[in-house]
Amino acid sequence: MKITIIAGARPNFVKIAPLISAIQTEQENNAFLEYRLVHTGQHYDKAMSGSFFEQLGITEPDVNLGCGGGTHSEQTAKIMVSFEKELIHNPCDLVIVVGDVNSTMACAIVAKKLNVKVAHIEAGIRSLDMEMPEEINRLITDSITDYFFTTSKYANENLDKSGVDKKNVFFVGNTMIDTLISNQHKFLKPPFFEEFSLVEKEYFVLTLHRPSNVDNKDYLTQLLLTLDESCDVPIIFPVHPRTRQKIKEYGITLNSIIQVDPLSYLEFNYLVKHSKGVITDSGGITEETTVMQIPCITLRDSTERWETVYEGTNELVGENLELLRAKIKTIIDGNWKKGSVPELWDGKAGVRIISHIISIFDRIKN
Ligand code: UD1
Repeated sequence: MKITIIAGARPNFVKIAPLISAIQTEQENNAFLEYRLVHTGQHYDKAMSGSFFEQLGITEPDVNLGCGGGTHSEQTAKIMVSFEKELIHNPCDLVIVVGDVNSTMACAIVAKKLNVKVAHIEAGIRSLDMEMPEEINRLITDSITDYFFTTSKYANENLDKSGVDKKNVFFVGNTMIDTLISNQHKFLKPPFFEEFSLVEKEYFVLTLHRPSNVDNKDYLTQLLLTLDESCDVPIIFPVHPRTRQKIKEYGITLNSIIQVDPLSYLEFNYLVKHSKGVITDSGGITEETTVMQIPCITLRDSTERWETVYEGTNELVGENLELLRAKIKTIIDGNWKKGSVPELWDGKAGVRIISHIISIFDRIKN
């Protein structure tokens, strides 16, 4: 059986590592299992891509399609044209796509049009916010997926409501958490920790990259100036490339927030694990903070990961800057909820997924 795994952007790399490791283990007993790793090139900077492969021990991609940059349509179109050629030259039985980035949707469409089965890891999550590019990617990917691997009961319910046959839905847990659990003993203190005299549990971590937050000049300026002026503890801000471009374009000057380059996986999670709290517009980070039991404030009105709010340590503040200030104070005062770890987020999702895939294809063969 031949599997092609797609990865394009930073969070994808974290999610594919456990799949590859589970396939490699399985290959010791199964000579017919082969995989090919396709990097679309959506993220291309070393800090956004290469360092993740190195630190997570992911094998070098078999091919890099080099499709980074451009508008969403340009990027999606480039990936589709390149991946179609790639898949015709290297046919397979199953294409695995993960998450909700443009590469996920683009490659799922190509595979389906070439009559190749599609498995979607992290299927079924929904923010219901159609202004989020990722929500469009999720809806389109799930509308043509054959096998749905889910991280939560909310995802199962969403798929059920949209009419997906339950026999194709596999509740397996969360591969991003597999990676967190298997790497937590290796987290690395970033060199600037001493340089900025950071003290454990006495600083916040900030991340921002969603177009809805960073493409709006007035909001981004107000948000960053509010945080710059009102926080009594240091804020470390690893700045995503698109956010850095916007801060420069809008001429925003920050005095107290400490801006650093995007961090490697092991450094970023060291920083989070030892922080007082996290302020973010990422989805994946809310899962990691839930497992590490770190208070997390999400700068969005909605989430596709409700388990992080109902069970975990996450709370949504939307664009309400007063509420943001109040929530930061709650964290500083030590009054944040404790939360619990969602069902099956136990580090074994990758193994479950590969085992299901092998059974499915054994059944098809026989
Ligand atoms: C993408 C995903 C988002 C994910 C995020 C993680 C989509 C729709 N969005 O957003 O879901 O949470 O990745 O980071 O797929 N750039 C660089 N170097 C890089 C990558 C990007 O400089 O290695 C710059 C480029 O100018 C690029 C811009 O950042 O045009 C945005 O990158 P893009 O991949 O389009 O989207 P992200 O904002 O990274």
